[in-house]
Amino acid sequence: MTWVCDSSSIGSRDYDRAPLLMSQSGTKKHWEQVWTQKRADETSWFQKEPAVSLAMIERSGMAHDDALIDVGGGASVLMDRLLEAGYRDITALDVSGAALQQARQRLGRDASQINWIEDDVRVFEPPRRYALWHDRAVFHFLTSAQDQKRYVENLERSVWPGGQLIIATFAPEGPKKCSGLDIVQYDATSLQAALGKRWKLLEEQIDLHRTPAGREQEFGFYRLEFQNILR
Ligand SMILES: C[S@@+](CC[C@H](N)C(=O)[O-])C[C@H]1O[C@@H](n2cnc3c(N)ncnc32)[C@H](O)[C@@H]1O
Repeated sequence: MTWVCDSSSIGSRDYDRAPLLMSQSGTKKHWEQVWTQKRADETSWFQKEPAVSLAMIERSGMAHDDALIDVGGGASVLMDRLLEAGYRDITALDVSGAALQQARQRLGRDASQINWIEDDVRVFEPPRRYALWHDRAVFHFLTSAQDQKRYVENLERSVWPGGQLIIATFAPEGPKKCSGLDIVQYDATSLQAALGKRWKLLEEQIDLHRTPAGREQEFGFYRLEFQNILR
């Protein structure tokens, strides 16, 4: 993947994709800056323990050799906890190489047990299918219908029919921005509308996250199943 920094570097065949390429480069620039300037525990989304994610992954009934992917995983300790729990086929994807580097450094020798992908979730080419896709606080940054559609297309190319999605976004009572960027708040109904009819809601949970600065943020966590057929 080649990251472009300004419109002059976009070739003519990329003309239709120019808005996406520009938005990709802006996204990458923003997140590389965040992750080179801050340690994980200095970010507002930092969790000492990703308790709700882990409980939902356990309830998903995934086997230890099922393929799991954490998109926009940043430097979250979810990877560490999944390895400790015995999962053996884990992929971490993030647009920021600096975020992945922080996670790798923390994991040390265990980092070699994770498949690392540095890419934008809107354009990444899934190399295979996964049984479970986890996303805490990434989808909600996609504010345009086009970006949301791209995300869902990639999600559906990546997950096996019968596979599951665990997704966390800011809830209607939560913040309207994250990392200085606009976000979209979701409840179960609006999330279901954004994801489409192939996704069947299995459970939902509100989580009150306390940031390292002591502020409370309301997240909604949702677990859904990818249906083979349109309902
Ligand atoms: C708010 S942080 C959440 C990090 C992690 N999921 C957690 O719960 O600690 C959002 C993460 O998504 C990544 N990200 C943002 N936009 C992305 C995109 N379009 N594709 C892939 N990763 C993205 C950022 O680099 C950042 O690590």
